[in-house]
Amino acid sequence: MSERVLIFDTTLRDGEQSPGCSMNLQEKLQIARQLERLNVDIIEAGFPIASDGDFEAVQATAAEVRQPTIAALARAHRPDIVRAWEAVKNASKPRIHTFIATSDIHLEFKLRKSRSEVLELSIEAVKIARDLCPDVEFSAEDATRSDIDYLAEVFEAAIENGATTINIPDTVGYSVPQEYGPFVKELISKISNRDKAIFSCHCHDDLGLAVANSLSGVESGCRQVECTVNGIGERAGNASLEEIVMTLRTRKDLLPYHTEIVSEEIHRSSRLVSNLTGAFVQANKAIVGKNAFAHEAGIHQDGMLKNALTYEIMTPQSVGIISSTLVMGKHSGRHALLKKYEELGYQLTKEELERAYFFFTKLADQKKEVYDEDLIAIVQDGIKTIPDTYKIAYVHAEGGNQELSSAVVRLARQEETFVSSAHGDGPVDATCKAIDQITGMPGRLLDYSINSVTRGKDALGEVFVHVSFSGQNYTAKAASVDIIDASARAYLNAVNRALYENKQKVGRESEVVSEEQKKIKHKATGS
Ligand code: KIV
Ligand code: ZN
Repeated sequence: MSERVLIFDTTLRDGEQSPGCSMNLQEKLQIARQLERLNVDIIEAGFPIASDGDFEAVQATAAEVRQPTIAALARAHRPDIVRAWEAVKNASKPRIHTFIATSDIHLEFKLRKSRSEVLELSIEAVKIARDLCPDVEFSAEDATRSDIDYLAEVFEAAIENGATTINIPDTVGYSVPQEYGPFVKELISKISNRDKAIFSCHCHDDLGLAVANSLSGVESGCRQVECTVNGIGERAGNASLEEIVMTLRTRKDLLPYHTEIVSEEIHRSSRLVSNLTGAFVQANKAIVGKNAFAHEAGIHQDGMLKNALTYEIMTPQSVGIISSTLVMGKHSGRHALLKKYEELGYQLTKEELERAYFFFTKLADQKKEVYDEDLIAIVQDGIKTIPDTYKIAYVHAEGGNQELSSAVVRLARQEETFVSSAHGDGPVDATCKAIDQITGMPGRLLDYSINSVTRGKDALGEVFVHVSFSGQNYTAKAASVDIIDASARAYLNAVNRALYENKQKVGRESEVVSEEQKKIKHKATGS
């Protein structure tokens, strides 16, 4: 029997920490629920001392997601640890994850502390955590650039004082597998009480080696791997969950370890994370990239038709990509749509089906064939976590290389309608400006990207925007066959998100109908 490796998912902490990947509470909960379906062993749900939002997200995850262990991160300080405990204490299996740096460079320039002071702080932190929680993980930040004997001393003391998991991060992604594996092996051998803890690897991908390093860590004795969906995370990211899991599964012959991950949930998890964070997955990304299972070359296709094993080392079905039997078109009814979603792994409520059906019929009128990816985009776009304060009622934009671009936008807000028009540098800019005039909230478009969901000229376009309103940044997305419609709706989703989050903060809608807006409304209604 192969040995079990625990999967510690840090998408909601290290992943969310990366620029542009921040999520609100509802989105974090959606990801946590999906991670539970994926059957990860531990979810690191956040860093509760970092902000009230982080605290609430960890607390809500702990209350709702009952199968996995829920971990909360804390620096090696009492206030951090107490706050982390407050956030996770109601989890069915809570964990406090406390950390401090151990490399000389971090000690000298960041912490300005001696090795013995850091040793004392580590012991103190583990004791505080262990008094509160039976499951305590201790991490030595920048472990791989630390003196190995000193690191062994710190880890031994941490275990002595109650740490149950010991994490060995390659924080700056500097290691190579030939070095990380032997380092872990030697380190563990120097820790006399090693049998009382599980060792864990946490590798960053600055040199593209996070997965390879993690696997060499497993071979050297780590039985927990810290990773993220799609490999998102600080700088170049963390080790990618799907690559670790599928490597262990596909190369059992060489790597006699297994995880309890439901690999058929990988594809859906990947899409959900990229949809909610706006962090695209490159087409050629292993396991979850759009092209990961596409065989384009004639010679490959020929081989595949004769026997899939000629070019396929794992099946698309094993990661949850379904080649479905039901073809959807404009004559398909609600029942077929419901069945199709079931095939794709979605259980829709009556309301969700109604909404999905509405968009599906609109799409089926516009496109010849509606692909699985279109349906997934519809349903994931439809997971509304933010109320629509404003809705698009009408949008029309014109551009070209000779004319100044212009747009006319009509927005609905409850019973009222507002119309505005604007010129801009291109139709998207003009559309956003027209929206700004109505909402009275000028946004700065920091990032804009568009991606086609499927192939062909009639494919759905998925637009992601990153917008700043008064210095606060928001990510949002929308999909439509028309890219101006998708752009307007993505931008408006960012507006609605800003309004909603402000309202949550101050307990009321912070923006009021401005004089400018009243004039616009006046024009629209003609009154
Ligand atoms: O990369 C790192 O060192 C970390 C620790 C907090 C575990 O993320
Ligand atoms: Zn990290």
